[in-house]
Amino acid sequence: MLTILNEDPHKRIELNRSQIIDLLKTDDPYIIKELYNRANKIRARYCGEEIHVRGLINFSNYCKRACLYCGLRKNNKNIQRYRLTTDQIFATVSKGVTAGYKTFVLQSGEDPYYTDEMVSGLIRMIKSKFSVALTLSLGERPYSTLKKWREDGADRYLLKHETSDAGLYRRLHPDLEFHNRITSLINLKEIGYQTGSGIMIGLPGQTYESIADDIILFRNLDIDMIGCGPYIYNPDTPKIKTTPNRKKYIQPEAEFIYKITAINRIMIKDALIPATTALTTIEETTGQKNALLCGANVIMLDITPLEVKHLYKIYPKKDFIDGIKDAEILFQNLTISTGRPVSKTLGHRAHL
Ligand code: 5AD
Repeated sequence: MLTILNEDPHKRIELNRSQIIDLLKTDDPYIIKELYNRANKIRARYCGEEIHVRGLINFSNYCKRACLYCGLRKNNKNIQRYRLTTDQIFATVSKGVTAGYKTFVLQSGEDPYYTDEMVSGLIRMIKSKFSVALTLSLGERPYSTLKKWREDGADRYLLKHETSDAGLYRRLHPDLEFHNRITSLINLKEIGYQTGSGIMIGLPGQTYESIADDIILFRNLDIDMIGCGPYIYNPDTPKIKTTPNRKKYIQPEAEFIYKITAINRIMIKDALIPATTALTTIEETTGQKNALLCGANVIMLDITPLEVKHLYKIYPKKDFIDGIKDAEILFQNLTISTGRPVSKTLGHRAHL
């Protein structure tokens, strides 16, 4: 294992499934250190030093789905629901542009209130007014809708597959189908989006082998943005039953998430890899910084208006930062903690 990691960093290495599993399971501090170093060098070589910051706007917490782990699930009565108008969303983008953001992520539960035409109008309004990149994270949609939004100017689309273990996927998503998820990702790539996927780590019943498959799936689909964060239990969601006879389930520990970040970087050298927000929940002060030092090159900051921000409760969190008012200081802190500049570009995938 060490020999692969120690090879000339300019030589491209490929990890096979059993090597990935070995790396996921190892607790040898020397191998882990080499893994992080290797990933950090690859990040520097293929992506450069810049950190790309995204302004995240969670504009509605209504959702028609019932995903077991998620606080937005339609069956959750303990959540106060909100929607922003398209004017409010546009105003938030406008403030974000002034604060220095170059990419905006428009994210919500799967909320049919916003028609295809409303979203189209919003995309066109933003793209005609500002030179920014736009990412959508609006769940599974028909091919024709995704194509239209791309034509309207949306650059990127996030649709996490959450787990490649089809059985686990089925148990977690009573109203979704695994193969539709994968087909959607293929469609997004074909339509021309920079396409994001990702998984939750530490799901009940999740195995090392399935995580290796997730990583291989990212590589096989040539996923452009890979976001892997810890699963955090939300007490307003049902307890997820585990399959009792499968041994050695993985835990959502920070160190394990860094490993996955590093392996993803080795597998897709120029991908956009965020240090996920959920990581701050388990490793508050150093989580994101550590991820940036072992392969990650993207940070998402929540700029949802403060009146509603705390209501986007996918999982319990305490995030008191104001991504607009504190933008300058947040950007500076990123540079101070990593020694790397915050990008002033749109931050598209570099492509080899
Ligand atoms: N813990 C961590 N991440 C979660 N998500 C949803 N619920 C949780 C949770 N309990 C993430 C999933 C999903 C996105 C909406 O948020 O990755 O894709």
